[in-house]
Amino acid sequence: MLKTPDTIRSAVREHYADAARKADSCCGPSDCGCGPNTTLYDDQLLTGLPSDVANFSLGCGDPISLAALQPGEIALDLGSGGGLDCFLAAKQVGEMGRVIGVDMTPEMLKRARAAAERLGAANVEFRQGYLESLPVEDSSIDAVISNCVINLSPDKPQVFREIFRVLKPGGRIAVSDIVTNGPLPQAVQNSMEQWGACVAGALDVKDYTRGLTDAGFADVRVQPKGETDKALAMLPVGVPFSAAVTAVKPG
Ligand SMILES: C[S@@+](CC[C@H](N)C(=O)[O-])C[C@H]1O[C@@H](n2cnc3c(N)ncnc32)[C@H](O)[C@@H]1O
Repeated sequence: MLKTPDTIRSAVREHYADAARKADSCCGPSDCGCGPNTTLYDDQLLTGLPSDVANFSLGCGDPISLAALQPGEIALDLGSGGGLDCFLAAKQVGEMGRVIGVDMTPEMLKRARAAAERLGAANVEFRQGYLESLPVEDSSIDAVISNCVINLSPDKPQVFREIFRVLKPGGRIAVSDIVTNGPLPQAVQNSMEQWGACVAGALDVKDYTRGLTDAGFADVRVQPKGETDKALAMLPVGVPFSAAVTAVKPG
């Protein structure tokens, strides 16, 4: 298949529509067959959420702890999937705050909106849209979070510009994402399957840092998430690993 931004987005959308459909067929509201999510999040963070919501994560880290959200803040989750990070963020920003999740895949939005209704999460809203043209007002967001999504975009400089546009001056980024240290093998880069699996589109740490800096961000940090990721980051060949990304829009 010819790789263009449109074919990449279609393949990614189909990949995640399929993931949402499979979860719908295996995870009922009261009995989720998926494994517990404690590898990514602290148990305490997940307390109180139904298991089918708490265990439906396609992420690679914990942007919620990274973001240190405060009561009353407005958070935006890029590629919100089934909504887990939005519901966790909603608990932290409280009734006076607000959380917006954006995703391009209708099957994911359906799942997230159904969960929001069931949870009575009045301060969470899910919007359909692309990371590359966010359906969000200029300078309206305190914190942009995202979990394993930016690597999937075929136009990352545009995503970084959009994040900059929607953040308030002084606003921040707290993102978990897959990155590399050095180029991935060519066969991996060419594979659409590997793109959908959050591998082929992973940016080199240096390009991630430069991309955010070029978009206007300050204090840009892209750091391996844990000890295993630290070890992977040191290998001399390009290997994907999970990273915590933080940056600030100058005030
Ligand atoms: C790996 S999943 C992560 C979902 C969620 N953040 C989580 O942690 O479970 C990627 C999500 O991003 C969405 N997505 C991927 N590329 C996108 C794009 N360019 N614009 C909007 N949504 C996108 C997909 O539809 C999917 O729901």
